[in-house]
Amino acid sequence: MSNLDFPILVAPSLLACDFSHLADEIKKVEEAGADWLHVDIMDGHFVPNISMGPGILDVINSVSTVSLDVHLMLEYPEQYVDAFLKAGADSVIVHVESAGLKEPDVMRDTLKKIRQHSVRSGISLRPKTPVSEIKPYLDDCDEVLVMSVEPGFGGQSFMPNSIDKVRDLRALGYRGHIVVDGGINAETGKRVRDAGADVLVAGTYVFKAKSYRDAIDSLRSDVS
Ligand code: DX5
Ligand code: ZN
Repeated sequence: MSNLDFPILVAPSLLACDFSHLADEIKKVEEAGADWLHVDIMDGHFVPNISMGPGILDVINSVSTVSLDVHLMLEYPEQYVDAFLKAGADSVIVHVESAGLKEPDVMRDTLKKIRQHSVRSGISLRPKTPVSEIKPYLDDCDEVLVMSVEPGFGGQSFMPNSIDKVRDLRALGYRGHIVVDGGINAETGKRVRDAGADVLVAGTYVFKAKSYRDAIDSLRSDVS
């Protein structure tokens, strides 16, 4: 299926960068053609890992010139949305499985609040969560982040059931961004693009590559 009118965008995940040189890594990956930067926020409850909070996002925002795609892997993310908006998020993505968002009104209000700040609203789903769970919210959602690994860690293997979810979302008529996150490389990237995804998140594949530019270019090209 075509990717509608969207160009393919690449969003390197900073989780895999060298944090002892964070500002240099951001500069390097932006010069190599990154369209967005993907920022993974983990609370040690929703996922068994802890990463960074709004203070670090603020630092990233002060250095970066591209759109910051902020993936909240948190319980009760609605309590932290303001802090991440203030720290410079250009999208705020919440998980449909998070405690706090089981109540449909809270989920809707959270997505609307994000949009009111002229920031992209996003919903993510774990590999085992069916697309039907997010269907009621698609009108309020600018991007769907399909997880192709269990959230929590970089460097895991791609789960192919994510491809069907991308296809299902386009078949439902969803015209927002479809972002795929986890285990993306040139080969898996092409598979999800062919299914209708338009944004590829890649951590390990970009930041462990000898050439960030070659890695990013390969995610957009048909040769793998
Ligand atoms: C995992 C994160 C991903 C991760 C991707 O919970 O959401 O963004 O950084 O890393 P790779 O590309 O290494 O699978
Ligand atoms: Zn992520």
